[in-house]
Amino acid sequence: PWFHMQVLAQVDSTNRYLMQESVRGVPHATCVVAQVQTAGRGRRGRNWLSKLGGSLTFSLLWRFQCGAAGLSGLSLVVGLALVRALHGMGLVDVRLKWPNDLIVQTHGEWQKLGGILIELQGDMEGPSAAVIGVGLNLDVDTTLRQQIDQAAMGLNQLYGKALDPNQVLGRCLASLAEHLNLFAEHGFSYFQPQWAAYHAFHQQAVDLHLVNGQVLPGRVIDIAEEGSLLVETASGIQRFNAGEISVRSA
Ligand code: ATP
Ligand code: BTN
Repeated sequence: PWFHMQVLAQVDSTNRYLMQESVRGVPHATCVVAQVQTAGRGRRGRNWLSKLGGSLTFSLLWRFQCGAAGLSGLSLVVGLALVRALHGMGLVDVRLKWPNDLIVQTHGEWQKLGGILIELQGDMEGPSAAVIGVGLNLDVDTTLRQQIDQAAMGLNQLYGKALDPNQVLGRCLASLAEHLNLFAEHGFSYFQPQWAAYHAFHQQAVDLHLVNGQVLPGRVIDIAEEGSLLVETASGIQRFNAGEISVRSA
């Protein structure tokens, strides 16, 4: 696969930048990599924090013939593609946390290695474009660790030596292209069993943090065919969409 690469020394957010470039008509498979982001975005107004060399931050523009309505499960497929790319580099302990995080367990605690932020353009009927933003920690130092309100880990720490960010990027892009082409053809249901196999909390006890601040204990049953999470709670089996809850291990 070929990509249109743009490497920026600094930008506020590669997602914000590529959303704007996409409207201007940059081609399918444009990838913007930033050495530094000054306002990296997470979901729901949260931040992605990093310093120079501290994380691999990029966004990939993927155009789809279908409308936004046909893209449910896209961020899960992106996570699967990334986990497989990392496993291919020997980082076999990396797991997925529904819906959009890459995590790893060290000293009995789950730590966040990376996150995905997808922003869509186009209407529900189609065609549509997705700006797929990926942040992968390379090196999490103590200053950064203090700024993040959850446990974080870097690929270099995990690997035991410094990885070449270009090589990591190359592997991620190749895996993304392969998975995104299959997703365009088959949708998420094709990946559902594979995704569940990499889920850190598959059939595990978890705490569900609802958007209203409430915390609900439960047990993960499975991922549904369209990508929602099935959890058994005190009131029976409930189905959650991304954006409704944050999952933490119990
Ligand atoms: P969810 O479980 O809902 O995905 P989340 O807490 O991971 O929740 P996101 O919006 O996915 O939330 O990610 C943003 C969050 O990621 C920030 O609020 C912060 O806690 C964390 N974060 C920010 N920068 C980093 C980083 N470099 N490494 C790890 N975590 C980070
Ligand atoms: C999350 O964990 O919620 C998602 C974090 C996504 C961060 C990446 S870094 C590259 C791209 N540009 C952004 O502003 N955000 C994403």
